[in-house]
Amino acid sequence: MAEPFLIRPATLADAERIFALVHLNRDQLVPRSLGNIVENIDRFFVASAGGEMTGCATYQVHPELGDALAATVEVQSLVVKSMFRRRGIGKALVEAVIARVMPFRPHEIVALTFAPEFFRSLGFEEIPKTKVMHKLYTGCINCTKHTNPFTCPEIAMRKGGAKSDEQ
Ligand SMILES: CC(C)(COP(=O)(O)OP(=O)(O)OC[C@H]1O[C@@H](n2cnc3c(N)ncnc32)[C@H](O)[C@@H]1OP(=O)(O)O)[C@@H](O)C(=O)NCCC(=O)NCCS
Repeated sequence: MAEPFLIRPATLADAERIFALVHLNRDQLVPRSLGNIVENIDRFFVASAGGEMTGCATYQVHPELGDALAATVEVQSLVVKSMFRRRGIGKALVEAVIARVMPFRPHEIVALTFAPEFFRSLGFEEIPKTKVMHKLYTGCINCTKHTNPFTCPEIAMRKGGAKSDEQ
């Protein structure tokens, strides 16, 4: 039987393992320095099974010019160790991110991904990359693999967030 897993907020003790896992999957993920992971450790979740860190995920809030309520949240650095895949760990990590950010009442949750089927299974839908210009200007502009985000095979996906109803 597969080892049961738990999802928990990351601690500084996880930072080097997160770095190693993201680096190992650098073909699918935007690279992160150890310093960047440490600076943002409060936004990381990790999965652990039998005392082993088996996956991680984090997020970033992207503001929209002139409209605080239109901010989007991007799922980032989502990865599960290959031998632990297809056990629901990736899904549980994204659900932990969503549960964390929903109280902020973001307009939507987005991802740029090579794993559209995974995100579709979580209720995300494909959108044109022109809908995530903030991501293109903050992340893709520094891409070292592709010169143009519109010809890169990554797919932009979104899931609706929540609108604040307080005045
Ligand atoms: C994407 C990734 C995080 C998925 O993690 P995972 O733990 O295997 O995902 P889950 O087991 O929670 O999968 C949930 C559902 O997503 C879908 N899914 C997951 N991986 C899939 C794949 N490779 N192909 C098609 N559907 C897939 C399935 O519907 C699956 O449910 P099922 O196993 O009952 O059929 C993992 O494959 C990974 O680390 N990939 C490399 C890094 C990456 O691409 N990260 C995403 C960057 S945004």
